[in-house]
Amino acid sequence: MKGIILSGGTATRLFPLTATTSKQLLPIYDRQMIFYPLNTLIRAGVEDILIIVAPDHSGQYLNLLGSVFKNCGIHLHFEVQKVPRGLADAFILGEKFIDGDNVTMILGDNIFEDDLHEDIKGFEKGGMIFAKEVADDPKRYGIVEFDKSGKVLSIEEKPENPKSNFCVPGIYTYDSRVIEIAKSLKPSARGEIEITDINNKFLEMGELTVKKIKGEWLDAGTFDMLLEAGRIVKEKELYKLFDLRIEEAIAGFNNELKVFAKKRLL
Ligand code: G1P
Repeated sequence: MKGIILSGGTATRLFPLTATTSKQLLPIYDRQMIFYPLNTLIRAGVEDILIIVAPDHSGQYLNLLGSVFKNCGIHLHFEVQKVPRGLADAFILGEKFIDGDNVTMILGDNIFEDDLHEDIKGFEKGGMIFAKEVADDPKRYGIVEFDKSGKVLSIEEKPENPKSNFCVPGIYTYDSRVIEIAKSLKPSARGEIEITDINNKFLEMGELTVKKIKGEWLDAGTFDMLLEAGRIVKEKELYKLFDLRIEEAIAGFNNELKVFAKKRLL
């Protein structure tokens, strides 16, 4: 299983914060947001991870992550996405990297409380997404409609009249056929190639699994949600759920920073 973290975009709703850095490098309590999707993948046993970044921030990603995972079996790769063309573009940009393997793509701003490692490790073929019931404003997301037996009836992207409150969070697992499907998509009304169209394709083929999740799902799209994400992470101690290799990487990075800081003072 390969992993892709989509960390591009301009995050205009978070200006001026995102004028100087990438949204996914903003802090969630004691660490940069990007460590959360990294942790979700690493805990699921994914060790080859492609991080797709916007050109303006590529240097910052390299400074933070370029050499933190030395000798622990985790390999990070970077790709620059010049223009954000939609979530499905991740599979086209990642074609060579995926190289015929299965792939899990996660959005760089998505934080999950649930441990999804068994689902991701157990994946064999087709497509697998999750569904999370939200209390308000489902219009902002991809929406799954289930029948009484739990069978998926439809998936719609940001519907005007949502048929349920079950949203599709930003983590998607597919086999490598996803690349050809992504290439065949036409841009939507908002000018993007939509991940929802990929999910509908696998649904039509009868090969889409949708699993309901119960734990917190946070994406820090607005100032309020950014603040709320930090608060929930602190309150529920989600920052303690990190893979040891990430903890060691952050500790090592902090030590290096301290050495540099000392040298500058001398
Ligand atoms: C995207 C997807 C949507 C999904 C959401 C999760 O929306 O298109 O289906 O529910 O991510 O965060 P966007 O962030 O592009 O508005």
